[in-house]
Amino acid sequence: MKLPVYLYGCPVLRETAKDLEPGNPDLKKLVEDMFSTMYLSEGVGLAAPQIGRSERLVVIDADVLADTFPECKGRKFVLINPEVEILDGESISRAEGCLSLPGISEEVKRVEHIRLRWLDEDFQPHEEEISGFLARIVQHEVDHLYGRLYIDHLSPLRKQFIRTKLHNILSGKTRCDYPAKYPPKKRK
Ligand code: NI
Repeated sequence: MKLPVYLYGCPVLRETAKDLEPGNPDLKKLVEDMFSTMYLSEGVGLAAPQIGRSERLVVIDADVLADTFPECKGRKFVLINPEVEILDGESISRAEGCLSLPGISEEVKRVEHIRLRWLDEDFQPHEEEISGFLARIVQHEVDHLYGRLYIDHLSPLRKQFIRTKLHNILSGKTRCDYPAKYPPKKRK
């Protein structure tokens, strides 16, 4: 089942997500739905807050980027309660986009070498050092679990530059190619 993607301005995107506990019988279905939603909207990652659930759950399938970024080849993850540790301080700028911010893509500075700890769908623990664009995807998605969006990393000047595009999402004027949930209208 495809789920609507919550867009910029929806309050759930700014909440700090809660840890998942084992024993949720709906988890497998939810993970399946998140993958379907991500593939339909041609994303490489999706965090649970983006489908309106404030829970520490992320799905990633980066394989489609393997031609450009070999480290992404065959990499598909379900991340439950993930933790990111930054392993080196050198930041690199690369373009990012987000399904919650349609029509916008901006360069974001991030380190490209991290240690990731997470639980899989069966709540088995994993730990891996990840680098390159894959590390960037993971950081972007884990940011969602803390209520952060990639535009929070932009300089004031770049933020000013995309102000109109953000406003268009908030006011429901942005067209979205996938099912989306627009933010509640502000009363004035
Ligand atoms: Ni995103």
